[in-house]
Amino acid sequence: MRILFTGGSGKAGKHAVTYLMQQGHRVLNVDRVPLDMPGVDNRIADITDAGHMHDVMQSYADFDELQPGTGVPSFDAVVHFAAVPRILVTGDNECYRTNVMGTYNVIDAALKAGVRKIVFASSETTYGICFWDGEKKPDYLPIDEEHPTVPMDSYAMSKVVNEATARSFQARSGADIYGLRINNVIEPHEYKSKFPAYIDDPALRRRNIFAYIDARDLGHMVDCCLKTDGLGFEVFNVSNDDHSVAATTPELLGRFYDGVPVRKELGDDETFYSNDKARRLVGFAPKHRWRMYLDDPRRA
Ligand SMILES: NC(=O)c1ccc[n+]([C@@H]2O[C@H](COP(=O)([O-])OP(=O)(O)OC[C@H]3O[C@@H](n4cnc5c(N)ncnc54)[C@H](O)[C@@H]3O)[C@@H](O)[C@H]2O)c1
Repeated sequence: MRILFTGGSGKAGKHAVTYLMQQGHRVLNVDRVPLDMPGVDNRIADITDAGHMHDVMQSYADFDELQPGTGVPSFDAVVHFAAVPRILVTGDNECYRTNVMGTYNVIDAALKAGVRKIVFASSETTYGICFWDGEKKPDYLPIDEEHPTVPMDSYAMSKVVNEATARSFQARSGADIYGLRINNVIEPHEYKSKFPAYIDDPALRRRNIFAYIDARDLGHMVDCCLKTDGLGFEVFNVSNDDHSVAATTPELLGRFYDGVPVRKELGDDETFYSNDKARRLVGFAPKHRWRMYLDDPRRA
C-alpha cells in the first residue's frame, strides 16, 4: 500500500514505519522533523496547518513518482501518529490544540483526497487512570473498550475528542477509521534500561494499568488494521498479552485493586488491559514479551 504516516519520526512512529516498510508498503512520513531511514520519503509539514495537510494528501512521495507521467497517485491509507504525546511537554491548551486541530485536519484532508482507510493513535489515557490527580482505580478489570473514558487532563481529553471527531467523520464518509488506544510504548532497548526497576517496584506501573506495548507489535497492529476492511469506526486497546512487571495477577489484585470487580478469570501474568477485541476483529497477535529480553528473577 501507499501510506501517508504522520509522526513517523517519533518514538512509536519510527518502529511502526519500519514494520510497515518490512511488509512491503511505501511510506511517506509527514512530520516536523524528517526520519532518517533508507527507503522512507519525508515531507516537513505541520498537522495544525490545514493547508499543509490538504497539500501533502495530494503529493508525490518522491521524484520517481513523476516518471509514469500519470499525475499524483492516491494514498491507500493514512496512519496518524503526530501529536504532543503527553501532558507536561507544552502548555495544556497547546497540547489540546495541537492534538484536536491536528487530528481534524488530517482526517478531513485525507477523506477529501479520497482516502478510505485511516488509522489514528488514541491512548490508554482516555480511561483517566494515567494522568489522574491522585489515584483512580478502574471501574472493573480487565479494562476493555466499553470502560468509561472520562479523563481529567488536557492530553487525554484531546484523545477522547479525537475519537468523537473520527466517529463523526466515519458517519459522514463511510470510510474505515480505526482508533488505537495504545498502552505505554516500549522500544527494544527499554527492556534492559527500564524493566529492572519495574520488577523491583511494580507500583511504578500502576498508572499504566501494569500493561505495555512493544513498539514492533504496535507496528504489527497498524498493519493488521490496514489489512482489515469494512469495520467502519472502531477503537481498539493495544497492549501485549502480559503484565509489564514480574508480580503475579493475584499479587497485583491484592495490593492495588481491592474492591475492583474482576470480570474474567485471568492468568498469572495476563494483562489487565484487554486486547481481546484487537485479536478478534483484526487478527492482532503480539510476539514480543519482556521476558524474551530480560530474565525474570522470580522465575530463574
Ligand atoms: N509513547 C507512548 O507510550 C504512547 C502511548 C499512547 C499513545 N501514544 C500516541 O502515539 C503517538 C506517537 O507517540 P510517540 O510516543 O511516538 O510521540 P513522539 O513525541 O515521540 O512523536 C510524535 C511525532 O509527532 C511529531 N509532531 C508533533 N507535533 C507535530 C505537528 N504539529 N506537526 C507535525 N508533526 C508533529 C513530532 O515531531 C514527533 O516526531 C501519539 O499520537 C501519542 O499520543 C503514545
